[in-house]
Amino acid sequence: MRDNQTFTLIKPDVVSDGHLGEIVQSIQDAGFKIIAIKLTRLSRVEAMDFYGVHKEKPFFGKLIDFMISGPIVPMILEKENAIEDFRQLIGATNPALAEKGTIREKFGTSITKNAIHGSDSIDNAEIEGSFYFSKRELFV
Ligand code: CMP
Repeated sequence: MRDNQTFTLIKPDVVSDGHLGEIVQSIQDAGFKIIAIKLTRLSRVEAMDFYGVHKEKPFFGKLIDFMISGPIVPMILEKENAIEDFRQLIGATNPALAEKGTIREKFGTSITKNAIHGSDSIDNAEIEGSFYFSKRELFV
């Protein structure tokens, strides 16, 4: 992945609520180009691996149950200043605290069911993106 790219994951609440198209459109309208995208599902083992950094946290079990509850949509996005701009677009982790007009404020319903993820650094975008996409899918 390049410096001007980020990783996002649209979560199962959005897909099951029928808001997937609307959110993809709002991401594109904000100037992000979709480099890679897929509809997929995580097994429990995969989810525990992907969220391994949170395994000691009290919310870990709830997070895993939610993330395996239905299809998800990981994406690699490209835009100048992608990491920061995307985190502004999605808003704070807790939808109740997310700024008005952000994706989490509009579509998130709890800190667990918070609609969407955005990587917090280039290094994490690289790690998270390569969990879901092969080199061939990223054209590298
Ligand atoms: P995200 O940052 O996309 O990935 C990790 C997820 O853990 C985060 O979204 C929230 O959904 C969840 N999370 C983080 N902090 C808490 C918390 N204090 N309580 C419950 N869930 C949390």
